[in-house]
Amino acid sequence: MCVTTVDINGQPYQRMVLLKHYDKKGLVFYTNLSSRKAQHITHNNKISLLFPWYQVDRQVCFLGKAEKLSTIEVIKYFQSRPKDSQITAYISHQSTKITTRDILENKFFELKQKMRRGKIPLPSFWGGYRVKFDSVEFWQGRSNRLHDRFLYQWKYDHWQIDRLAP
Ligand SMILES: Cc1cc2nc3c(=O)[nH]c(=O)nc-3n(C[C@H](O)[C@H](O)[C@H](O)COP(=O)(O)O)c2cc1C
Repeated sequence: MCVTTVDINGQPYQRMVLLKHYDKKGLVFYTNLSSRKAQHITHNNKISLLFPWYQVDRQVCFLGKAEKLSTIEVIKYFQSRPKDSQITAYISHQSTKITTRDILENKFFELKQKMRRGKIPLPSFWGGYRVKFDSVEFWQGRSNRLHDRFLYQWKYDHWQIDRLAP
């Protein structure tokens, strides 16, 4: 899904992340807690998630607020990841500048060697967010550009559903 956050000056940024889990409480993704997106969320947790599905001519857009996952939830997921991905989480300080790829690869193999035995603990700077949403728009492509659009908006205790013009 494409995640949009806004920086302190109101500049929006977008990037793809993997939706790892969803339930009635919201949509969950994992990331580095020092990354640009995490910094944005710290000062403004309003967020937009877009799922583009070109093959079926469809898109779904969520608006809501991102909340940090509990450490227990994050540990559970982190431990389910392949060991190499856990190591990468340690060595990559996401969105900081690096001079060469070699630095990254050397760090990776160094840590892989060091941590070859036992469990890899959760890095303090790695976690995830649950997006609690109160607006969802479903868009379905139809013939003659007469597309269907339905906007769901949470109103206190129910979803208000409106059809929007394409
Ligand atoms: C298909 C795809 C999936 C991705 N999944 C994730 C993810 O789950 N978590 C993540 O932190 N970055 C993911 N990335 C990398 C992000 O797009 C982005 O480059 C990175 O998170 C840094 O973003 P930021 O500097 O805005 O924080 C993914 C990229 C692609 C193309």
